[in-house]
Amino acid sequence: MQDQPDTIVVLDFGGQYAQLIARRLRDQGVYTELFPWDADEAEVMRLNPKGFVLSGGPASVYAAGAPHLPDYVLASGRPILGICYGLQLLVHHLGGTVAPAPEREYGLAWLEVPRENPLIPPGRHRVWMSHGDRVEDLPPGFEVIGYTQSSPYAAVGHFQRGYFGVQFHPEVQHTPIGSHILRRFAVDICTARDDWRPANWMARLVEEIREQVGKERVLAAVSGGVDSAVATALVYKAVGDQLTAVFVDTGLLRQGEREQVVRALKQALGVPLRVVDAAPIFLNALKGVTDPEEKRRIIGATFIRIFEQEARSLGHPRFLVQGTIYPDVIESRAPERKHAARIKTHHNVGGLPEDMTFELVEPLRYLFKDEVRRLGLALGLPEDLVWKQPFPGPGLAVRCLGEVTPERLAKLRAADAIFREELTRAGYLGPPRGDGPRPVSQAFAVLLPVQSVGVMGDQRTYQEVVALRAVYTDDFMTADWAHLPYDLLARVAARIVNEVPGVNRVVYDITTKPPGTIEWE
Ligand code: XMP
Repeated sequence: MQDQPDTIVVLDFGGQYAQLIARRLRDQGVYTELFPWDADEAEVMRLNPKGFVLSGGPASVYAAGAPHLPDYVLASGRPILGICYGLQLLVHHLGGTVAPAPEREYGLAWLEVPRENPLIPPGRHRVWMSHGDRVEDLPPGFEVIGYTQSSPYAAVGHFQRGYFGVQFHPEVQHTPIGSHILRRFAVDICTARDDWRPANWMARLVEEIREQVGKERVLAAVSGGVDSAVATALVYKAVGDQLTAVFVDTGLLRQGEREQVVRALKQALGVPLRVVDAAPIFLNALKGVTDPEEKRRIIGATFIRIFEQEARSLGHPRFLVQGTIYPDVIESRAPERKHAARIKTHHNVGGLPEDMTFELVEPLRYLFKDEVRRLGLALGLPEDLVWKQPFPGPGLAVRCLGEVTPERLAKLRAADAIFREELTRAGYLGPPRGDGPRPVSQAFAVLLPVQSVGVMGDQRTYQEVVALRAVYTDDFMTADWAHLPYDLLARVAARIVNEVPGVNRVVYDITTKPPGTIEWE
């Protein structure tokens, strides 16, 4: 980024909350980037960080091969905040003692802070603990800021050098004072500016896009999802009609999706948007196919073929917009992800055709999802698009179990629309409202290739089954099924059976991930 904003760097030591630390700091208006602990020094230091946060992690500092504190962090002379493993690392490195705690401490604890100090206001604070090791002896120059019943050194600091450490997790909601602590560290101790706000990003990103693209033409592939819509709207703001956006209607979209995209981008913002009606091509290619991976392969390949045709007809623009967001960037460089087993091929329809060469414009690559949403609203995209749940690239094809036919897609689409409509009405989909229920992360209908017997009016029926799936998840790697109210489920089931011809039974999926996945295929 040009004019690098004041930056705090979080080094990730493998803790489950590392991303959250960065998000919380950004919520405070402080620009923050996350790197693996062993990232290249030059890559980190080019940001000229105002301070470092060392995340938690599963290792013990005294274990052989445990992640260590890179020398350049101390050498930089910048303030450091160690969290959990990060605290232990700092203490261990500077000559203190870390040892296994008499018992693992997990859950809520009370932190006593007896005196004024730069990091935590005095008083008694509820904090979230999760650790097996603890600090037993402090390095020279450190003093105790706070303690809990089982951690005598739950918060410590070397005030002069600006080194601080907390045994608890300030980044989780269960530590109400946590955001304030992170803010004090970043703004007061590191003197980082807290002006990271949507209006500022927009100006900065627009300028960057203009600089990258110059007078060249730009192509954007709009998928119907939030990220590609926001990226497209932003690039349009930057370069206007140098942009052409292409939206391929695969025939595998949900009800109202195509109209929503046209309304939001073309009609409201004036983005030059080409809608390609490719439903017949996709449905033809999918004829007779029932294997999930085969469906994905066909859809990915067909998409690329159509997209190539469009690009060619536009004289092959030099630049392509991609809606890559920061978690994609973080994930792609995390070592453990590179070896993750392939459960499903996640073709990103709307993504880059592999054998086409474009220079990428990725204006969202430093933004978290909630920041992308705020930016989308600031750009004038409507709430219903900005708060859309994620939708897989292969679309309804992987929710229409068995063969994908126009008739079966129509049933699935109608059932899915009813489910989403009722969830939205009850406050389970859409933007979080202070007084409403917590919106689910993803919710959809699945059409099963199973027929069951029923009775409707005095007639025997023998028709298909719809399964409903609604989950809560933070990272889509694990998920819990949503405990939706029975009367809501009852209303949805009754409406589907009454309103969708050919469906006579509705079931609710109560499988967590793992062992299930979120999608059924
Ligand atoms: P699973 O089913 O693996 O899904 O638990 C995790 C998340 O990924 C989405 N998903 C996909 N997204 N192409 C995509 O772009 C795919 O083929 C695909 N399969 C699953 C799924 O909707 C969920 O959000």
